[in-house]
This record gives sequence, C-alpha cells and structure tokens, in this order.
Amino acid sequence: MTSTRVNPRSSGAWIKGILISEKRIKERIKELAEEISRDYFKKEVLLVAILDGSIVFLSDLIRELKINFSIDFVSVSSYEGSKSTGKVNILKEMRNDPSEKNVLLVEDIIDTGFTLDQVRRSILSKNPSSLKICVLLDKSDARKIPVDIDYAGFKIPKQFVVGYGLDYNGKHRGLPFIGVFE
Ligand code: IMP
Ligand code: MG
Repeated sequence: MTSTRVNPRSSGAWIKGILISEKRIKERIKELAEEISRDYFKKEVLLVAILDGSIVFLSDLIRELKINFSIDFVSVSSYEGSKSTGKVNILKEMRNDPSEKNVLLVEDIIDTGFTLDQVRRSILSKNPSSLKICVLLDKSDARKIPVDIDYAGFKIPKQFVVGYGLDYNGKHRGLPFIGVFE
C-alpha cells in the first residue's frame, strides 16, 4: 500500500492510502475478462450484478468481454457503516428468469460471504444451467460462511476499503482506485 494520505475530492474523510491503483485494476480486469471469455466461449451468459457496489466493476468488465451476454441486477442490503449486520435483505429481484441460463454473478467484494451465499441460493432455486461467481475483491480472512469463488480479481486483507464503486455510507464510490478507509 502506498503511504500517501489523500483527501480525495475534498469529500471530508481521509483515505489512508491507495491499496490498488487504477492502472492495476484495469490490467486485472482485462485478465479476468479473457479468462471468462475463454470459459464461456460460444455460450450466452447472463451477468447478474449485485447493486450498488458492483456497477463500476461491471461496466469495465463488460467492455473487455468477447462473448455474448446480457445483464441483470439484484439489490441487497446487509451493511451499516463498515460492519456487516449478517442479515441479508433482497431489496430488488432480478428481472430475467435464470432457469436454463448460464448465470455469472458479478460482485464488488466478498467479505463474510453472507450476501453472495444468499443471492447464490436464491438463483440456484430457479434452476440455472450453470452458476458461477466473479468478484473484484476477496477478503478471504473475513469469511464466516464458505462460498466458492470462480473468478477473483484481488485477494485483500481484512480492512475496510472504498472507491471504484465501493462506498462508506454511500460515499467515495467515484474514486478511480481502491483506497483504505481510515
Ligand atoms: P458480505 O455479505 O459480508 O460478504 O459483504 C458483501 C457486501 O458488503 C459487499 O457487496 C459490499 O457491498 C459490502 N462490503 C464488504 N466489505 C466492504 C468494504 O471493505 N468496503 C465497502 N463495502 C464492503
Ligand atoms: Mg455490494
């Protein structure tokens, strides 16, 4: 982690440092997209992104994919400030019927695993042809429930991060890098 303290766009709070730079994120997403495009070669994929945090990741990822895909969204909430409440509420269901489809869940970060476990179960109950999971960030030391991740951008330590779509109480999503929140 770089040691520079930045106060991005005078948003009020301090970011302790940059954990993953914009350049590194871009490079890694290219690699992930290549891997996904290879694995789903000649297949149609339904990308299901978990709102709100995954929107930046999704929009960069789809521009690197070389396969046919459509997108859908689910919305869940489990966080208050920087702590998972452990209770996952599905606020918005996906619009497509996932049955007989190759579903790829797209999520910004996996922490305790409760969110992805819940969304995964809900989709599996509707009989997709396949279901895989792609996350940009994996805080594997924080896991409280096991979830198999098929594509992970970066493994990161157990600390609260913001930027590149990730927020703290709705803020800092627009930072182009992943920063450690003070
Ligand atoms: P989990 O249910 O504990 O795995 O948490 C997953 C969700 O919590 C993610 O979709 C994020 O919205 C949020 N989250 C977990 N860790 C962080 C973090 O470090 N920064 C911002 N959001 C986080
Ligand atoms: Mg999220």
